Amino acid sequence: MDAGRWWDVDAYFVERLSLSDEALDGALERSARAGLPEIAVSAPHGALLEILVRSTGSRRILEIGTLGGYSALRLARGAGDDGHVITIEAEATHAAIARKNIEAAGMTSRVTVVVGRALTVLDSMIEETVEPFDFVFIDADKESNVDYLDRAVTLGKAGSMLYVDNVVRDGAVLDETSDRGDVVGTRALFDALHRHPRLTSTAVQTVGTKGYDGFVVALMTG
Ligand code: SAH
Ligand code: DHB
Ligand code: MG
Repeated sequence: MDAGRWWDVDAYFVERLSLSDEALDGALERSARAGLPEIAVSAPHGALLEILVRSTGSRRILEIGTLGGYSALRLARGAGDDGHVITIEAEATHAAIARKNIEAAGMTSRVTVVVGRALTVLDSMIEETVEPFDFVFIDADKESNVDYLDRAVTLGKAGSMLYVDNVVRDGAVLDETSDRGDVVGTRALFDALHRHPRLTSTAVQTVGTKGYDGFVVALMTG
């Protein structure tokens, strides 16, 4: 099966289901013009995030890995008028573009971009015992996914949903001898999820404009 077909089907979904609009397209255009890597979630995935956030009634959202704020916009829409997204980004240049995109979308009051290394920011949130988050989207460096999962559980509560992007990487996740940081990190994530006492989890493989990949969704049960 050629990947062009995956693109065409995504384009068909985007057109038939109206999965893009001015704010979302504008965010992608501004990000590309600024030279950011084109690795935001696909339009259908962004829409899925919004639906998950809305259907769980999530109000307090945490995102790890902002890039240009594309997924943050979807999360913020799902969270509604009284919801809020805190999104963490290590690269100041990415964060600056994200803030522009969020402003252009009229979402400044609903999204806070925190610049810093995610682990440092998460640990200071834990230290400050911030209000628990209802939904956590983990989408930064894959090497640190176990640490992010651990912090997300600490910052969540029973009923919170955790979503981890990019857990398949063309099937590379199966390579137990791999020395690739993302593969090692993702396999460690699955080991951490194995019979996790506070999570019930699944993983779904996907194809589309971002190739062959997949995601984990976990629900906090305690
Ligand atoms: N969630 C975004 C895509 C994120 S891409 C979207 O779908 O629109 C991954 C981002 O994580 C990049 O911007 C990268 O700079 C950031 N990142 C990588 N390592 C990080 C770290 N240790 N702390 C915080 N952000 C990090
Ligand atoms: C890549 C893709 C992603 O969705 C991400 O979050 C990080 C990196 C990539 O294709 O390199
Ligand atoms: Mg991703």
